Amino acid sequence: MEFPWWDKKSVSLFDQILFLPPVMEGALPLAFEQELFVEFCSGNGLWIVQKALENPQNLWIAVEKKLERAKKIWNRAKRLGANNLLVVCGSAENLVTAILPGPIVKEVFINFPDPWPKARHAKHRLIQETFVTELQKKMLPGGKITFVTDHAPYLEQGLTVFEKTMKPLLPEPFYGKDPENYGCSFFEEMWRKKNKTIHYTVYANH
Ligand SMILES: C[S@@+](CC[C@H](N)C(=O)[O-])C[C@H]1O[C@@H](n2cnc3c(N)ncnc32)[C@H](O)[C@@H]1O
Repeated sequence: MEFPWWDKKSVSLFDQILFLPPVMEGALPLAFEQELFVEFCSGNGLWIVQKALENPQNLWIAVEKKLERAKKIWNRAKRLGANNLLVVCGSAENLVTAILPGPIVKEVFINFPDPWPKARHAKHRLIQETFVTELQKKMLPGGKITFVTDHAPYLEQGLTVFEKTMKPLLPEPFYGKDPENYGCSFFEEMWRKKNKTIHYTVYANH
């Protein structure tokens, strides 16, 4: 399958892939015809392509900032016929702030985002108050966010950040559970083989 060409300077929509440049000057929000199911930090797309195939009535969006990985997701979606999946090659922050129109997102999934384990690097983690505040504006009422991590300090950061804008959905303790039929990502498979504890937290928009 031939991957579309991209100049890396402008927002470009090709066949099932939306490229976002690092600088989004002048970008306008896109119009979507149905509510969205979004996964941030999709990696090679194992989890989301499966979800798109299982739920063909939904529009799924895989967001991955690395070009090589976005390419893998796109190829997988094309090969398996997941026509209801749009790959976004760009940062989650740029998609949320510049491209998503008003409240349109039904569900968000953040599976194993980079943990940046050193305390001095924690500022690079995706889940920050500014990001989640912007994201919440794009969520439909009752929309949900699922955050999955094996990294305890990131779990703690997620609890603190999400609880400011969203409400926890699962009863206490609402982490360390293994939801049925959640699906499995590349990192989940890897950490499960190493017997790591996986923490799932789910939040609902008010
Ligand atoms: C640890 S991997 C997890 C991949 C996948 N979710 C899984 O569970 O196998 C994290 C991925 O997030 C991507 N990423 C990191 N920060 C991002 C951001 N701000 N926006 C979009 N993708 C991001 C990285 O390039 C990497 O592919």
